Amino acid sequence: MMGRGLLGIEDLDRDDIELILDTAQHMKEVGEREVKKVPTLRGRTIINLFFESSTRTRTSFEIAGKRLSADVVNFSPSSSSLSKSESILDTAKTLDAMDPDAVVVRHQVAGVPKRIADVLDAPVINAGDGAHEHPTQALLDLMTVVENKGRVDGLTVTIVGDIAHSRVARSNVYAFTKMGAEVRVAGPPTMMPVEVESLGVKAFTSLREALDGADVVMALRIQRERLSGSMLPSVREYNATFGIDRAKMRFAKDDAIVMHPGPVNRGVELSHDLTDDRPSVILDQVRNGVAMRMAVLYLLAGRKRSRNEEAS
Ligand code: NCD
Repeated sequence: MMGRGLLGIEDLDRDDIELILDTAQHMKEVGEREVKKVPTLRGRTIINLFFESSTRTRTSFEIAGKRLSADVVNFSPSSSSLSKSESILDTAKTLDAMDPDAVVVRHQVAGVPKRIADVLDAPVINAGDGAHEHPTQALLDLMTVVENKGRVDGLTVTIVGDIAHSRVARSNVYAFTKMGAEVRVAGPPTMMPVEVESLGVKAFTSLREALDGADVVMALRIQRERLSGSMLPSVREYNATFGIDRAKMRFAKDDAIVMHPGPVNRGVELSHDLTDDRPSVILDQVRNGVAMRMAVLYLLAGRKRSRNEEAS
């Protein structure tokens, strides 16, 4: 499975995803103990290489590694001094010489984790690359839906917002369609990728139609850093048309849940009260993020050593 790392959900099949979800369930149990630590990755080194800012993802990878007893090193070069891809590869080679057991990479340019993976011996985990993929986010979102709904198969999942610039949307489209959900995407036409329906989703410009009968409503952050001026309607207009609040949630199923990968622009893509209270499960997503990243680190960083041991 997973090849030599986790670069995107596109590369996984249903069995891979099920294995990761099962593993994450076990890891979650570790997080519920009084002593939240197991020796599984003792003596292993994990490098967090974050070229783009991050709160949740970086912190949860760090906590995940530490709960598994790995040595976790955070390396956050300023993107200005390391913007040329040549120097990124030099950095990667330097890190490789330190013999890590896994490297977690976030970068503002799509494809950089793959380029780094091509020169590293250690498995690379993509923690978000440009508008391409954010696989661990989609996996923790699946986990959160399974917990709240008991299944993914047969559910209707509506993803709302800046679909074109969202790596979370792309990874979730792959993840939820592979696991048997009907996936809908909704947003202003300027935020909809061309030929999005070729990914197996239904595209809507009417929020009301997109929400009709939905079990899961996932709001996305407006990706200001990836938008050029003309693509963004005024924030007020966006909120009126695509912002999710309790009134609009009436179009969805009565027991629908609301998700958001964070960070939320409160009052833009999600109303204040929905950001804080049920039916939103945003904090469940954050909590599951740690368990999911433990699972992925366990499956990948735990492997390299056994390959070496087999060789010796
Ligand atoms: C997302 C990201 O960085 O891709 N956030 C996250 O990982 N929790 C979503 C976003 O930035 O909007």
